[in-house]
Amino acid sequence: MSRISGRISTQSKDQNNLLVLLEEAQSKFGCLSQEIMSELAKSVGVSISEVYGAATFYAFLSTKPQGRNVIRICKSLPCFLKNSELIIESVGREIGIQPGETTPDGKFTFQLTNCIGACDKAPAMMINNEVYGDLTSKKIMAILKACK
Ligand code: FES
Repeated sequence: MSRISGRISTQSKDQNNLLVLLEEAQSKFGCLSQEIMSELAKSVGVSISEVYGAATFYAFLSTKPQGRNVIRICKSLPCFLKNSELIIESVGREIGIQPGETTPDGKFTFQLTNCIGACDKAPAMMINNEVYGDLTSKKIMAILKACK
């Protein structure tokens, strides 16, 4: 029993360390390239597939280059019930791309995400680390216009 719980806590600790390193690498390099993931796997002592698995599982990590402004619109139920679909359409129309895409000029990356903890302000989204809530199509236009 103690061997199992010891193993779990070690795995959990390793996983947390890996996530911290992945976040730092993404922040520094903009995305997690094959080369970066390979280096991290070697330095942490885990397989490249474990690193790749973590890098592709978490919505806040990306293996592809991202735009200067990463828009993440919440697609979870409370936001959906407050018409997040209309916000998704508005953003797509304003910046000319669909979720999962980056504008050719590298200004925006558009993603859908699960709850961002702003349910009381649904529908909500994040642009980089900033949370925006109680969104309307009119608000979206002003917010996007202010993005550099
Ligand atoms: S459900 Fe959308 S922010 Fe929580």
